[in-house]
Amino acid sequence: MTGPSTRTLVVIPTYNEREALPGTLERLRRAQPDVDVLIADDGSPDGTGAWADARAAEDPAVHVLHRTAKEGLGPAYLAGFAWGLERGYDVLVEMDADASHRPEQLGRLLGAVDAGADLAIGSRWVKGGRVHDWPLRRLFLSRGANIYTRVAMGLAVNDATAGYRAFRSELLARLLTEEIASHGYCFQVDMTRRSADRGARIVEVPIDFDERVEGVSKMDSSIVAEALGRVTLWGLQHRAQQLRRAVGYRGRRRGAVTDPSARHR
Ligand code: GDD
Ligand code: MN
Repeated sequence: MTGPSTRTLVVIPTYNEREALPGTLERLRRAQPDVDVLIADDGSPDGTGAWADARAAEDPAVHVLHRTAKEGLGPAYLAGFAWGLERGYDVLVEMDADASHRPEQLGRLLGAVDAGADLAIGSRWVKGGRVHDWPLRRLFLSRGANIYTRVAMGLAVNDATAGYRAFRSELLARLLTEEIASHGYCFQVDMTRRSADRGARIVEVPIDFDERVEGVSKMDSSIVAEALGRVTLWGLQHRAQQLRRAVGYRGRRRGAVTDPSARHR
């Protein structure tokens, strides 16, 4: 359980967010003064990392992790999480730099973790969740990606690609023992499915998602292609596993376990 002494770290991955990050950070520090922040910057050419260093020098709650190459959202988060787990944080949060995730709504996620969730997801696609000012193309992409994910993988989460989340450290520590190779936004789906596979308590809380007003999105066709490929693969793996389980179950009823992998499940 969490309590008043709970230590929370918000990890913010950045690539060229010099314009958007300052405002987001100010809002976050005001909304949740007791929460620490780690900026995980991939050597942004626009000077985001240098700005973050200067900001961290004057605020002990703000930290910066510099990475040398732009490797995508996934590796930046994994490095940030490892940094936080090493330092004993109890709750680790994912938040975008562009204030699409309202810092003022972080309390909803932390409240869900307090109430027992291992993973709280700030969801656009549950009752009360909203997206503001997104072009129709992005709405369809997000909606479509989530429907495809649900159907292909049998994942009972409405917003599996969401990037506003709070993990209990125990769950995250278990997930980080595995190799997680997802780079782009499918990293979010990957973490969701791995959490579900481990029987984690996943709770979706409605949020308002605001389209960014500063800087530009890093979404591109290679990110979409990686996500489509991986979700399809995970979906097939999931169905194959269901099939093996069904066969193993009938086998056991007949008194013989034929699938050796059934012993591990
Ligand atoms: N360090 C690092 N390296 N950060 C990155 C990289 C990278 O290669 N690529 C993106 N980011 C950071 C951005 O700087 C930003 O803080 C955050 O990741 C999200 O990137 P955006 O470019 O703002 O994403 P979006 O608004 O298009 O996408 C939103 O929707 C996706 C799909 O639902 C986000 O909420 C994503 O998290 C979400 O998966
Ligand atoms: Mn964004």
